[in-house]
Amino acid sequence: MSIKITGTGIGLPKRHVTNDELVSQFGLDTSDEWITTRTGIKGRYICEDETLTDLAATATTNALADAGIAAADLDYIIGSTVAADAHSPSLACAVAERIDATCAAVDVNGACTGFLYAIDAASALIEAGRASTILIICAEKMSAHVDWTDRRTCVLFGDGAAAVVVTRGNALKYIHLGSRPDTQVISIPNDMAGNNPIARDQVPAGFVYMDGQKVFKYAVSMIQQEINDGFANTGLGSEDIDYYLFHQANLRIIDYAITRLKQPHDKFPTNIERYGNVSSVTIPTLLHEMIHDGRIQPGQKLFLCAFGAGMTYGGAIMEWE
Ligand code: UT7
Repeated sequence: MSIKITGTGIGLPKRHVTNDELVSQFGLDTSDEWITTRTGIKGRYICEDETLTDLAATATTNALADAGIAAADLDYIIGSTVAADAHSPSLACAVAERIDATCAAVDVNGACTGFLYAIDAASALIEAGRASTILIICAEKMSAHVDWTDRRTCVLFGDGAAAVVVTRGNALKYIHLGSRPDTQVISIPNDMAGNNPIARDQVPAGFVYMDGQKVFKYAVSMIQQEINDGFANTGLGSEDIDYYLFHQANLRIIDYAITRLKQPHDKFPTNIERYGNVSSVTIPTLLHEMIHDGRIQPGQKLFLCAFGAGMTYGGAIMEWE
C-alpha cells in the first residue's frame, strides 16, 4: 500500500489534572486507588480557555514543521473528532482556516477508531492519485461532553490533539476496518436532536453515556479478532511485531491482549497513565512520542488496533520507513 507518515505533532491543554485533584478540587466521589486499579489512568489534560480548534491548530503546526512542509503543500485535510467546536463547519475546515490552507477539508467520525479510518481514507486517496500530501488531525475535547457528576465516565476521558502528515510510501502493509453496530452501549446524544417544529421530541441530555462492562467485552473481542485477521492476512506472527499500539481506553484491556499474545510487556507501549482516554487521539499521540524518543525506528513493524463507539474497530500493520 502506498503511504508513509512523514511528520507528527501534538497539542495539549495547559492544565493537567491528577486523580487526587478530581477529588480535592472537583469534589468527585472517587479515589486515585479506584481509578488507577480499574483503568491505569493517573491524570488527564483538561481544557481551561483552549478550544478544540486551538489544540488541533497547535498539533497541526507542529506536524507540518516536523514534516518540513508548508500548509500550501497539503492537498487534503482529514479531521477526526466525535465533536468539533461546531456541528458545522468541520474541525478540518477550522484547522484549514488557522493554517491558511485552501485544500479539501472534511471530518470522519469513527470515534476512538477515527485515526485508523482517516489512515484508510488517506491511503485510498493517495493510491487513487487524488492527493499526494494529506494532513490527518485527530482532536477531542471530551471534558465538554462528560457529565462531571457521573464518576463512572468523567474520570476516564481527557482532552488533546495529534496530527500526522501522510505521503506516498510503502509503510502501510495491511489495514482492515469493521463495525459491530450497537449504538446503545456508548454514545454522545445530540442535544439539538429534538429541535423540530413538527415533532418536538424529548431532547436527550448531551452527555457521554457508556455501559462500561459491555464496552469492555466488545473491546477484548474486537482486538482479538483484529489481531487474528491481521496475522492471517499477512502471514506474520505475534513475535514479528516490534510494537503493538492499542487504543488507550483501559490498561486492563491491553493486559488481556498481552496475555493472549504472550509477548514482552515493552512491546505494548502505553500513555493512558498521563492522558486518560482521548478517543482517536491516543494512537497518533503514542506514535508521536515513540518516534521522537527514538523507540520507533525504520524497518520495525507496528500493529495499530482501535475500537470505539458504533461499535467501530480496526487494525493496521505498518513497517516503519
Ligand atoms: O474509548 C471508548 C471505549 N471505552 C472503554 O473501553 C471502556 C471500557 N470499560 C471500562 O474500562 C470499565 O468497564 C470501566 C473502567 C468503565 C469501569 O470498570 P468496572 O470494573 O467495569 O467497574 P463497574 O462499572 O462494574 O463498577 C464497579 C463499582 C460500582 O460500584 P458498586 O455498584 O459495585 O457498588 C461503581 O459505582 O465501582 C463504582 N465506580 C466507582 N467508584 C469510584 C464506578 N466509577 C467509579 C469511580 N470511583 N470513578
